[in-house]
Amino acid sequence: MRMNAREHVPRLRRAAAALILACVALALAACDPPEDRYTTAQAPSGGNPSHGASLIRQYGCGECHIVPGIAGAEGLVGPPLNKLARRVYIAGVMRNSPDNLMAWLQDPQAVVPGNAMPRMGLNRDQARDITAYLYTLR
Ligand code: HEC
Repeated sequence: MRMNAREHVPRLRRAAAALILACVALALAACDPPEDRYTTAQAPSGGNPSHGASLIRQYGCGECHIVPGIAGAEGLVGPPLNKLARRVYIAGVMRNSPDNLMAWLQDPQAVVPGNAMPRMGLNRDQARDITAYLYTLR
């Protein structure tokens, strides 16, 4: 049976509505409950936070960031790092987890090419210690 153009319209509307519902359901499914995402961000990275604080001073992160607990860290080039442990995203693109934060610290250019944070030449242990410090910021 052939349908005329008028019969197509409600069908298309229904299909569009179903598609939108499916997208909303998917988007909701992708959002973990808050408890879960905070647990992820607060999971200890196994690093040494006080060594991380020394590295943050040594590498001059404070030239670009406000970092609570680090004297003179008042830079405004990058976002303030207060409450970092409670952030859901790193640089707005990556889930905030210890592994992702370490990856960001080691090579921010690989994550967001062209952003103003340079590769600082941190090795994995240094990135882990800095991550441990940043996760004390809640
Ligand atoms: C030359 C300036 C500069 C320096 C030095 C720098 N950063 Fe950044 N940083 C930035 C900028 C700009 C961003 C934002 C990048 C983006 O969102 O694309 C950023 C983002 C970040 C983020 C993600 C913050 C968020 O809100 O998602 C963290 C964490 C971070 N930097 C930590 C550090 C640490 C630790 C150091 C030192 C080892 C450091 N940065 C050194 C400029 C800098």
